Amino acid sequence: MKTKILKSKAKKPAPAGTAPKSVLRDVSQHLMNTYKRSDMIFTHGRGCYVFDQSGKKYLDFLGGIAVNALGYSHPDLVKTIRREAGRAVHVSNLFHNPFQGPLAAKLAEWSGMDRVFFTNSGSEAVEGAMKLARIAAKQKSGGATKTRFLALEHSFHGRTFGALSLTHPVKYREPFEPLVPGVDFLRFNDVADLESKFNADVCAIFIEPIQGEGGIYPVSDTFWKRARELATRHGAVLVADEIQCGLGRTGREFAYQRLTGLPDIVVVAKPLAGGLPLGAFLAKEEIAASFSPGLHGSTFGGGPLTCATGLTFLDTVEKNRLLANVRSRGAELKAGLQKLAAKFDFIQEVRGEGLMLGMDLTVDGAPYVAEALKQGLLINCTHEHILRLLPPFILTAQQVKEGLSKIESVLAKTERPAPSPAANYSAGLQVEPRPSATAAARSFAAAR
Ligand SMILES: Cc1ncc(COP(=O)(O)O)c(C=O)c1O
Repeated sequence: MKTKILKSKAKKPAPAGTAPKSVLRDVSQHLMNTYKRSDMIFTHGRGCYVFDQSGKKYLDFLGGIAVNALGYSHPDLVKTIRREAGRAVHVSNLFHNPFQGPLAAKLAEWSGMDRVFFTNSGSEAVEGAMKLARIAAKQKSGGATKTRFLALEHSFHGRTFGALSLTHPVKYREPFEPLVPGVDFLRFNDVADLESKFNADVCAIFIEPIQGEGGIYPVSDTFWKRARELATRHGAVLVADEIQCGLGRTGREFAYQRLTGLPDIVVVAKPLAGGLPLGAFLAKEEIAASFSPGLHGSTFGGGPLTCATGLTFLDTVEKNRLLANVRSRGAELKAGLQKLAAKFDFIQEVRGEGLMLGMDLTVDGAPYVAEALKQGLLINCTHEHILRLLPPFILTAQQVKEGLSKIESVLAKTERPAPSPAANYSAGLQVEPRPSATAAARSFAAAR
């Protein structure tokens, strides 16, 4: 039987390194329409700077959304990637490779967990954590009803069906319903709500110790401690989603180290392999013991190239004392942002820890992001009004000054946008509104 080859109607694709116009033509014709992007094309980077196709230089305070913790083309990462690319990129999980075990041991040392499963992304790690939590809780209780998950309002845990089910904002969830059943959301930092919804049917509670996409909101120690107590009492699993806030981002190995009590499972990804796709979920021995061969797997997860690079990432953070650098540069940056908050009355609050900082505005944040791009600075806006900064761990004091001066100029030059209705959320969280917060934010707070 003859196979008919269907020819695509596409024009010949533009070769790599080609003129921006044809690259953007290919994008508009052949990429799925899932991202809102500006038109620049980034070609390469060095340290904390990235360059677009015209050669324009940008100071990167976004770090590939918390991925490029060692900046661009870090010599240690480049060396490992070159070496392992010439040896074995992949060998399958039917066999051992030289790096998976040692990287798991290092992660166990950093986290206080015992065992690790490697994935290719954050969402895949969250999926695995959900499966492990469910089977562990069921086995412990000997009952099939222990299946409910708890997560927090304004959480973000990923885009796959399980992870999406734990993700709170309606805009991500609703178009794809029905999702995984049995998920309840708790009001952020609300201990009474936690106590009322936690019962013997819960198998796991997922918490980002600092919510990232949600707008840089740190979970309170009171809430975390109570979640730990209730998880222990009900034989459920406390899961820390450290995909954005973990692996050094806050100046500690993990953000939960600020809180009282260890989680049972920790989920990591973003910076783990310096920009190569690698995630993992880590668990205490008694939880991990619920897995046996055949219950979980991943073709690519934990390959030699990514794991060797992950080891280099963690070693470089240790060798170059980057956690101390994150703490010092983070404190300088936060102090600088707080000064700006005193000067610009539309800044409600500056939040966060280490190099995970948010500037909460009473107005729409998008025009500031656009102006920052114009001025050669990469930042991001989440929840429409929170400017988010996630610079690399290798940031220097000089670059903090450069960034702050650019941010000041951006804040001053951008025409004041309309008040953001979404800014009310911060007021709802009992974040002290600054005296200058908009009337809308004040009336929302008063209505609660
Ligand atoms: C806290 C958190 N969890 C999960 C995810 C999903 O990770 P990924 O995009 O690698 O699937 C993200 C991504 O931003 C995240 O910030």
